Amino acid sequence: MAYTRLSDANEITERYMDSILIEERLIDSVKAELSFDFLGSTFDMPVMTPAFSHLGQYKGRELTGLEEYSLAAAKCNILNFCGMMENDMFKQIIDTGAQTVRIIKPYADNGKIRDQIAYAEEMGAFGVGMDIDHIFGEHGYDVVVGEKMAAQTAEMLRTYVEATKLPFVIKGVLSVSDAVKSADIGAKAIIVSHHHGRLPYAVPPMMVLSRIREALLGRDVGIIVDCGIASGADVYKAIALGADAAAVGRSMLPALESAGVEGTVEFLNRIGDELRFIMSSTGFASVSDIDDTALFRGK
Ligand SMILES: Cc1cc2nc3c(=O)[nH]c(=O)nc-3n(C[C@H](O)[C@H](O)[C@H](O)COP(=O)(O)O)c2cc1C
Repeated sequence: MAYTRLSDANEITERYMDSILIEERLIDSVKAELSFDFLGSTFDMPVMTPAFSHLGQYKGRELTGLEEYSLAAAKCNILNFCGMMENDMFKQIIDTGAQTVRIIKPYADNGKIRDQIAYAEEMGAFGVGMDIDHIFGEHGYDVVVGEKMAAQTAEMLRTYVEATKLPFVIKGVLSVSDAVKSADIGAKAIIVSHHHGRLPYAVPPMMVLSRIREALLGRDVGIIVDCGIASGADVYKAIALGADAAAVGRSMLPALESAGVEGTVEFLNRIGDELRFIMSSTGFASVSDIDDTALFRGK
């Protein structure tokens, strides 16, 4: 897309995240614990993989990038995500042993959505969901890798939620309005995201997060944030501002491409280690304790 530099939501998001600063509270602090509960399961850290698609085999290795990062997620015992793909690829991801949420595209072909939901359930997925931020393109409805997308009404989304016993995750929520609608139709979690800057001037997910958290108080809907998450500090800020967890994105790609499963495990653990260090240094012993009282807004 030919937007000017200033309208690039990725840059705006990075600048916003980097403007949030952290104070130290060392006296009486203890070493922090990263494990946390999400949608009824316990994971080793509140860091998740991105809902990626279309990653081939890097450097001629045997497995696709999608399988490699899923194996890394399984090794780290974190929640894994995957995006647009056919059922055979999804099976390969499930075969890695990772607890995986399948994010399905808002296909115009409603039957394909239902088929992918049913297959995910049959294969033992952890959850399913949809990335609603891929409904529109610049000429109307989006076409992704040759497949037409379509507008999704709340009632249509509700039928998908009701079509499965798996938790349903709505990805691409960037307003209180969509967050509340997601809760109303029975979504169990949302991913606050602008899908690496699809919308010019998109508000940084972390900027809208506190409002969303407040609007969803008492609604039992998990909140994940993505876009620009590249460090433990980013994850810490996301959780402090109201998320339950954060998902890395393109920041994972260099490690994945150069060093496969092991490189990705190392990358994810590095993020966890930095998160533990910052939690310990700001007086938060567990993930659920973290709040925004150690944050400062710089310029
Ligand atoms: C190669 C690639 C493929 C992606 N495929 C999907 C997808 O199929 N479904 C989806 O919801 N998001 C998809 N995304 C978006 C990511 O899930 C995520 O929202 C985004 O990358 C976050 O921004 P960041 O990369 O700046 O952290 C994809 C991103 C990339 C880079």
